[in-house]
Amino acid sequence: MCGIVGYVGRGDAVASVLEGLKRLEYRGYDSAGVCFKSEDNTLNLYKKQGKLANLKRALVGVDHFSHSSIGHTRWATHGEVNDLNAHPHLSDTLTTSEMISIVHNGIVENAKEIRDELKGQGFSFKSDTDSEVFLALVQREIRNLSESEKPVVAVCRAFKYIRGNSAFVVQGRNFPELIAVKRGAPLVCGNSDNRDDILVSSDPYALAGVVNTLFFPHDDTVTVLHSSNDVGSMDPVIEFFDLEGNATTGFDTKQQLIDVTTTDKGEFEHYMLKEIYEQPKLIRSLRDYYFSPEGQEMLKNSQEFKPERVHITACGTAYYAGLGIKTFIESIDNIPCQVDLASEFRYRNPLISNKDLGLFISQSGETADTLAAQELCKERGLLTAAIVNVEGSTLYRKSDNNLLIKAGIEIGVASTKAYTLQVLTGRLFSNAMAGKKLDKVLGERFLLLADRISDLLAKVDMIKEIAEEIYNYKGYFYTGRGKYYPSALEGALKLKEIAYVHAEGYAAGELKHGPIALIDEEIVNIAIIGPELYEKTLSNIEEIKARKGVIVGIGPEGDDSAKEICDYYVPLNFKGLEELSPLYVNVANQLLAYYMAKFKGTDIDKPRNLAKSVTVE
Ligand code: F6R
Repeated sequence: MCGIVGYVGRGDAVASVLEGLKRLEYRGYDSAGVCFKSEDNTLNLYKKQGKLANLKRALVGVDHFSHSSIGHTRWATHGEVNDLNAHPHLSDTLTTSEMISIVHNGIVENAKEIRDELKGQGFSFKSDTDSEVFLALVQREIRNLSESEKPVVAVCRAFKYIRGNSAFVVQGRNFPELIAVKRGAPLVCGNSDNRDDILVSSDPYALAGVVNTLFFPHDDTVTVLHSSNDVGSMDPVIEFFDLEGNATTGFDTKQQLIDVTTTDKGEFEHYMLKEIYEQPKLIRSLRDYYFSPEGQEMLKNSQEFKPERVHITACGTAYYAGLGIKTFIESIDNIPCQVDLASEFRYRNPLISNKDLGLFISQSGETADTLAAQELCKERGLLTAAIVNVEGSTLYRKSDNNLLIKAGIEIGVASTKAYTLQVLTGRLFSNAMAGKKLDKVLGERFLLLADRISDLLAKVDMIKEIAEEIYNYKGYFYTGRGKYYPSALEGALKLKEIAYVHAEGYAAGELKHGPIALIDEEIVNIAIIGPELYEKTLSNIEEIKARKGVIVGIGPEGDDSAKEICDYYVPLNFKGLEELSPLYVNVANQLLAYYMAKFKGTDIDKPRNLAKSVTVE
């Protein structure tokens, strides 16, 4: 979703901001912009609809060397995608003291109310965005400052009017520092070891390779980033204040874990493919981590949990991982478990009690709906736990307990490796909650899964050939039964996201209760044929076949009767994988979706309309 990058320091501010924005491209965006301060302190704005390349083109021939700049990649919420609605927003007042620019992530829920009030006071608005109201609010508060008050006071006062989750960075013609403030939206900052480069962003990845120690301001903390050009060598370059303007310790500190050198695509054409191929190695390292003393320590709390019920909430792929984890919790822990879409959870007045556990699953740890579900559980006194990838994310910081999935940065917008590691971490969690120690059998099953996935990746041509045959059909049903049902849902989601075709995941036995009306020779059924409910699954396939649907079976190796009824067949060796086998199937689905999208020629790593981290509700 939207990305923020701000820079003050001795270096080339615009170059740093553009580099940061480039790193944030993976989050998804529809326009990009920068504002920079020239030597005479004027603020210069360039913003363009579309890819970052459009913005860079607009900057060709412009002298943009500067020591202060803010930039943004926008994912539209309020107002259509166009140059005007792109960020930054710059005031056009003639009063230089009020000349400021801002960038914003999140949603101002009371934007209309504030806009109407400000219009009554003579302010006018150029864009249709909710963000621009903050620009006007800060202008107004700057105008009302007493002589002794600093601009940070105006930002604090303006922010108090804002409802909803937002992060802003403000740049001013008349003040050298950048001022950032946030509530419920991610923000991180830091400076290079030599203090020459001071950066703020919505994502630590933008700071990788420059900043080693990261600062994460808490909600309602204002961060002031001073240029090293303007402060003495002993003065702090970053300061934190509460909304009353008092210095505060309302921030967390963490070492930067992302290494830019490990985040290029290497030999792979797309990040998604690279991330699919990383899975065997990551499964082995997840196992090693949780068998190590550090990992055991992380699991220790889970051994104490004795909840009456578990409520899992998550979105999208993470929700499907939750469906997989539910089967572990119910079968291994014998505890009732409910899985909710985070966007629905809090609006249905869920029956939750303080004897229950709230379990949240998220790759980014920044998904607004998941965070809101977590907040509700906390308000109702539930113990909370998160299965999360990004250490230090908001979800991570707000959870009573965390289990890291150790997937490394996931750049492809369509989640692949995170799903696999979420489910596996859920398996470890259910084991710990059952009071069991990690045993050799489970460890070996993880290794077997890694090996089987490696074997499948080595036979990728077989899946590629099937993808080439089926990529142009009208629609796709992914079917599975029992523990394979989440894999059917996840398989269909992957295909929709990256190949832009209609696909649905269905419980195989449910098709005849309605959707079978859609089946004809233009519909493909990707049928997961697991060893359990085997005969019933084959009967379900026969029903599709009788209506001329095209069948791609993903089923047991060496099974001629299954193979015979399918038009195409992906043989898998399920033996010994037991409850982990749906993850093996899912990798076949990931590859199938990837190659179908590739034959369609879509933008696989940055599918249209999608954002990697959905920070608005
Ligand atoms: C799909 C995908 C999304 C995310 C969802 C939740 O490939 O990536 O469905 O799973 O937006 O995101 P996180 O896991 O960051 O909370």
